[in-house]
Amino acid sequence: VILDLDHVGIALPSLKEGLATYKNQMGFEHIHTEEVPSEKVRVAVLLAGNTRVELLEPTSEGSPVSQFLRKRGGGIHHLAFKVEDVEAEVERLRMEGVELIEPAPRKGAQNSKVAFIHPRSTGGVLIELVERFVR
Ligand code: CO
Repeated sequence: VILDLDHVGIALPSLKEGLATYKNQMGFEHIHTEEVPSEKVRVAVLLAGNTRVELLEPTSEGSPVSQFLRKRGGGIHHLAFKVEDVEAEVERLRMEGVELIEPAPRKGAQNSKVAFIHPRSTGGVLIELVERFVR
């Protein structure tokens, strides 16, 4: 089953500028920054109450986030939902005929395991499924 919204992923060219807005001006709490090599991004995690926003800055030209920025400029990149068992969920979705970006889950930020549903299957929204071990 797919559970609560985990975070909203926002792509932008520079974390520094993103933090200047989301943290300094808007007052979101910045709890963590991490590079995620598997996705070629640097991620800043912020909280507004219990709602989590992840700012994504590409670390190379080949990053999927670079492609997104070239095509659309910055913006909402994906919505992430919590799952208890990402392997089981990927298998279930495959059986349902939902198109996934990759056949198997991989390592996400903060030691999570993640998988992505292709926007072709979801009305144009990239959906991430997150199995999380720590907040
Ligand atoms: Co995400």
